[in-house]
Amino acid sequence: MSEQIVLTGIKPTGTPHLGNYVGALKPLVEMAKTNKTFVFIADLHALNIIHDPKQIKQHTYEIAAILMALGLNLDNATLFRQSDIVQVSQLSTMLMNITPKGLMNRAHSYKAAVDKNIAAGVDTDAGINMGLYTYPILMAADILLYESDVVPVGADQKQHVEFARDIAGYFNHVYGDTFKLPEPVIGEDTGIIPGLDGRKMSKSYDNVIPLFAPASQLKKKIMRIITDSKLPSEPKNPDDSTIFQLYRHFASPDEIAALRTRFEQGGMGYGDAKQILFDKVNDVLSGPRSEYERLMSTPSEIDAILADGASRARVVAERTYNRVSRAMLG
Ligand code: TRP
Repeated sequence: MSEQIVLTGIKPTGTPHLGNYVGALKPLVEMAKTNKTFVFIADLHALNIIHDPKQIKQHTYEIAAILMALGLNLDNATLFRQSDIVQVSQLSTMLMNITPKGLMNRAHSYKAAVDKNIAAGVDTDAGINMGLYTYPILMAADILLYESDVVPVGADQKQHVEFARDIAGYFNHVYGDTFKLPEPVIGEDTGIIPGLDGRKMSKSYDNVIPLFAPASQLKKKIMRIITDSKLPSEPKNPDDSTIFQLYRHFASPDEIAALRTRFEQGGMGYGDAKQILFDKVNDVLSGPRSEYERLMSTPSEIDAILADGASRARVVAERTYNRVSRAMLG
């Protein structure tokens, strides 16, 4: 087992889809096979967008059940809910005082929100709450609290991990060596996972295939993937095809090569290709899906895992927070 501590957070803002599975959930489950890992559901980070507690709770259960159903190794991985550990909010308050405001002004997500307002001709800060503005500080608190070495994130989150490093550096400079400096690890490039319309699979494009949709719904979605109008007899380019681009994340190398040949040779219609894709995805996901459904109908099991995770996470959180409190307050 590697000595490096891995940490990542997942925001409960939507029902996970195949893009999340390929890009984040599957690699995370792999990583936790050989590393001590902290995985938390970042419910506090969802608050700047979602103001309905029912939704946050529902998505929190979904994410926890998905990770459990995918076989997350719960000996190595501490799975917990961010808000169960009060020290993260306390640390965030402390870090506010050494974080330059200018650093927050440079955050990509804040700048994007400001640019949108400027383009719309409204006040630059219209609709922007302090949760969004200070999001990177709370995220730095997550990363620093659990003494993590490695933070696997998507490219869009790299700046946040760099900010956590910067903030840890400022802190250590003022108060002496207190925090480890974390490293962002950008996952191996899985390429863009296309959605039903061929654009990147994303909730905001409304083109997603939910990870654990019942088989009938999964099939309906897959049959709705947009294709060009080539006839069955015509050769097709697999690298341009959403069907093939999804298939390659679920099938074995031999199966991928075989489907590539069938695309390139012609003689296979898109309807048949979709059926092949459905059979494969369904085959891979049907076991975990039944376990997911069982867990979702037994929330007490999920609660027990999250409670156990929280008690393990709290040990580290208290230790770090006490160090910070002594350094800052004496
Ligand atoms: N901001 C991350 C996202 O939107 C979620 C997150 C919160 C996170 N805290 C974290 C990721 C700490 C890594 C480490 O995806």
